[in-house]
Amino acid sequence: MEKVISGIRPTGNLHLGNYFGAVKSFIEMQNNYECMFFIADWHSLTTHPTPENIRRSVRTILAEYLACGIDPDKAPIYIQSDVKPVLELYLFLNMNAYLGELERVTSFKEKARTQPDNVNAGLLTYPTLMAADVLAHKADKVPVGKDQEQNMEMMRLFARRFNRIYNVDFFKEPASFHFYDKAVKVPGLDGSGKMGKSEGNAIYLCDDEATIKKKVMRAVTDSGPTKLNQEKPEPIQNLFTLLSLVSSQDTYDYFNDQYNQMTIRYGDLKKQLAQDINAFCAPIRERITAYQNDEEQLARIAKQGAEKATESAEKTLRQVREIIGFRPY
Ligand code: TRP
Repeated sequence: MEKVISGIRPTGNLHLGNYFGAVKSFIEMQNNYECMFFIADWHSLTTHPTPENIRRSVRTILAEYLACGIDPDKAPIYIQSDVKPVLELYLFLNMNAYLGELERVTSFKEKARTQPDNVNAGLLTYPTLMAADVLAHKADKVPVGKDQEQNMEMMRLFARRFNRIYNVDFFKEPASFHFYDKAVKVPGLDGSGKMGKSEGNAIYLCDDEATIKKKVMRAVTDSGPTKLNQEKPEPIQNLFTLLSLVSSQDTYDYFNDQYNQMTIRYGDLKKQLAQDINAFCAPIRERITAYQNDEEQLARIAKQGAEKATESAEKTLRQVREIIGFRPY
């Protein structure tokens, strides 16, 4: 079976956009591939978080992914910093990663521009650590967002280069699995674009009922349709897209007909949408709380994941050391 691995940046809480994007595709993949998922806490150090910050964000994202349906018996989920052989591969790969090519990575250049006071070596070698994450397990496929494509190209370059330098056919070039090609784009509530944390227009899986309602009732609308069966302008289409994700077909058709007949009242639509989003999120929210309150269970799941991942990485590293010329004396 093909191996799939992906890293999750521990940045804040999951919102509906994350759910219908990365999270849902991970949950589908765990049934069809040999999957492993990990929380990239080493990578998060590039921004210098506080110790409390790391602890909290790692624990939160672990609880949220589990609550969404990652099944640790099917797909081990682990914390990057628990799997030490990856660090060794990171060092080896860094020896053949060149300053010029690392400096040319768009996300590095962007960071160097926006945070000139913190252009650290970890930021520069972000792509080699990411390559080590995946190559350590000789994974076939990596589900990633569009923004990760250049890092994926670097990963394949490092794999090829290693093979060429040591004249071996050892690493395979991991393919990107672009879930965003298939995923529904979840719109924001501010009338444009997509739901995102930085856009400030997101509904989080952990939002309570009152918060969901407040956010939905504030969603941007217009003064209503002026022609029968007219095309919906973006803010209105966005509300219908959200309906299509969380409501029943009947509910969708009901409001769609009302829109087409020009009898729609956006207040009613929003009330229904808020109710259906809450019904969708409530069971996930309860599971998040349950995991958050069960430190022991989280620790057990993370440990089980770390053991599987360490075994897999250590197997690769034993061979890598030998290829490079380190011998076990
Ligand atoms: N760079 C990824 C992101 O920002 C996270 C990540 C780290 C990752 N290591 C990885 C993703 C390995 C896939 C494979 O989202």
